[in-house]
Amino acid sequence: MKITYFFFSLTFLIFFSCSKDKVPEINSNLDLSAVSYSKNVQPIIQAKCIQCHSAGNEGVELYDYDHVAKAAVSGQLTGCLTGNTSYLSMPIGSTLDSIQVKTFVNWVDQGFQDN
Ligand code: HEC
Repeated sequence: MKITYFFFSLTFLIFFSCSKDKVPEINSNLDLSAVSYSKNVQPIIQAKCIQCHSAGNEGVELYDYDHVAKAAVSGQLTGCLTGNTSYLSMPIGSTLDSIQVKTFVNWVDQGFQDN
C-alpha cells in the first residue's frame, strides 16, 4: 500500500514539474495589425532570446530597442526566425509559435517602431 502511494506521488510530481516548462501566454489578446515593441516584441525577447543576446554578446545584441532595430534593418532578425537558410535558425534551445514569429515579422513590416 505504502509503495503504491509512493509511486503515485512520484508520478504526480514528475507530471507537475514538467508542466512548468510551458511558456506563458505572452501574446494573448495580441493585435497583429499594430504590433508594439514594448508590449509584444520585447516580452518574447526576454523569454526566448535575451539569455544569449544580452549586452556584451560578441554577436547580435538584443537588449534594447536600438540593437533590435539594427537586427531588423539588416534582415537578420526576421531571417533567423522564418527559416531563411542564409541565417542561423533561432531561437536555439526552444521554438517560437507561429504567432510569436508573426509578431516579429509584422513589427518589422510595420516599420519596427519604438512603441
Ligand atoms: C541558447 C542561445 C541562444 C538563444 C536562446 C537565441 N540565440 Fe540567437 N544566436 C545565438 C548564437 C550563439 C548566435 C551566433 C552568434 C551571434 O550572432 O550572437 C546567434 C545568432 C543570432 C542572430 C544572427 C543570425 C545570423 O545568421 O546572422 C540573430 C538575429 C539572433 N541570433 C536572434 C535571436 C532571437 C530573435 C532569439 C529569440 C527568439 C534568439 N536569437 C535566441 C544563440 C542564441
